[in-house]
Amino acid sequence: LKRCRLGLLGLGTVGTGLLRLLDRGGEGLCERTGARIEFVRALVRDTGKPRAVEASKLTLEPADIVESSDVDMVVEVMGGIEPARSLILRALAAGKPVVTANKAVLAAHGAEILAASQAAGKPVGFEASVCGGIPLLRAIATGLVAEEVEELVGILNGTSNFVLTRMYQDGLDLGAAVGMAQERGLAEADPTLDLDGSDAAHKLVILAEVAFHTAARFDQIEREGIAGITPTDVKVADEFGYVIKPVAVARKLPEGLDLRVHPALVPFTHALGPVSDEYNAVLVRGHATGETLFYGRGAGSLPTAAAVLSDIVELVRHPDWRIPWDPAKSRPVVRAPGKSRYYLRLPVLDRPGLIGKAGTILGEHDISITHAEARLAEGGEGTGNLMVLTHAAEEEAVERALGEIVGSAILAGDPLSLRILE
Ligand SMILES: NC(=O)c1ccc[n+]([C@@H]2O[C@H](COP(=O)([O-])OP(=O)(O)OC[C@H]3O[C@@H](n4cnc5c(N)ncnc54)[C@H](OP(=O)(O)O)[C@@H]3O)[C@@H](O)[C@H]2O)c1
Repeated sequence: LKRCRLGLLGLGTVGTGLLRLLDRGGEGLCERTGARIEFVRALVRDTGKPRAVEASKLTLEPADIVESSDVDMVVEVMGGIEPARSLILRALAAGKPVVTANKAVLAAHGAEILAASQAAGKPVGFEASVCGGIPLLRAIATGLVAEEVEELVGILNGTSNFVLTRMYQDGLDLGAAVGMAQERGLAEADPTLDLDGSDAAHKLVILAEVAFHTAARFDQIEREGIAGITPTDVKVADEFGYVIKPVAVARKLPEGLDLRVHPALVPFTHALGPVSDEYNAVLVRGHATGETLFYGRGAGSLPTAAAVLSDIVELVRHPDWRIPWDPAKSRPVVRAPGKSRYYLRLPVLDRPGLIGKAGTILGEHDISITHAEARLAEGGEGTGNLMVLTHAAEEEAVERALGEIVGSAILAGDPLSLRILE
């Protein structure tokens, strides 16, 4: 039986979940994995907090984890960029393999961490960093090794998906749905990174790097959050056969990677249509297997800890194991040419001729309308919404047309444009 003594950087939601899995796994885990995995100690900020482990197993000194001779592997579950980045680098330099669940540090410093891992000859496992409990990265890297992945479309942020699902199923507005997510522990006190698309973009960088074996830059990713979506949008989308989902899309193009995170209208019949509440899913498209769908819990203490533990076991069994990703082969983030259909909501002033005016501007930008509907009582006295579904149109044309509509003094608020996923 191989022995692996773990030092944890952080003992919060995921770290505590890992200890529960180790306790519960016991001998059965040893038999299944061929390894005896032992918890040695954890770095925390506050040793006085009530915890499931005795105080002697806690430390405030990072060297007790990353440079200690009684730690064989370091598990980084503290989150954030610093000191997580420096401590991962120190652990590798001290000859310790590292497992991390930290998408933020990987999205910002993945290339540096991977280079340090290669220089030290010690692997870094990061299965838990994308879609928590779904065994996704290793499945793409090994199960789909024969595949040339062409495109990934996913729901990578469980909080946004929960919020949009509650708006859809319970008729809540965005604020009330966010409050419900917070009550259920699915959203942070400050949910900005979840709602503005940053969290999904962190995961998309990592996912794209693993799927396309190349490095990508987080700050180049176009991100649109869900903050502008109203119950009206959710209702109108439903009437047209769509559900609004927070999607992330990655496509490999000859000139680079097209990576984007935005809410979109998804047809009920699409594989991502039924993916509700805090669930995540990723649809992988490739030349050999066609479409493969991964679905499951993207976060939470035990699902995420299960992914961390799977990395630990993998690295104990195969110390040379690597995700085949080459940071030296960096690709720029580019815009894919092509058109999409759009849903537009224009909050309009109730004036004669406004539908004609908006339609004319769209037409002048070569955007043709498949459906248009005005609901003029909804926004209060003298205002309302004009909802438009378009035929496939160029993204830039839509932006230009909306700019012109904003300047035409027929609007009572900011317009919303959402792509329709085919
Ligand atoms: N929670 C999830 O569902 C989930 C899912 C997927 C990935 N992840 C990722 O997993 C990582 C951990 O998340 P979490 O939810 O477990 O976080 P958490 O509950 O906030 O726990 C963080 C832990 O790290 C410790 N810590 C933070 N900063 C520190 C510092 N500067 N020095 C020493 N200790 C420090 C904290 O110490 P104290 O206990 O003393 O405060 C705490 O024990 C993050 O990267 C997150 O993105 C989480």
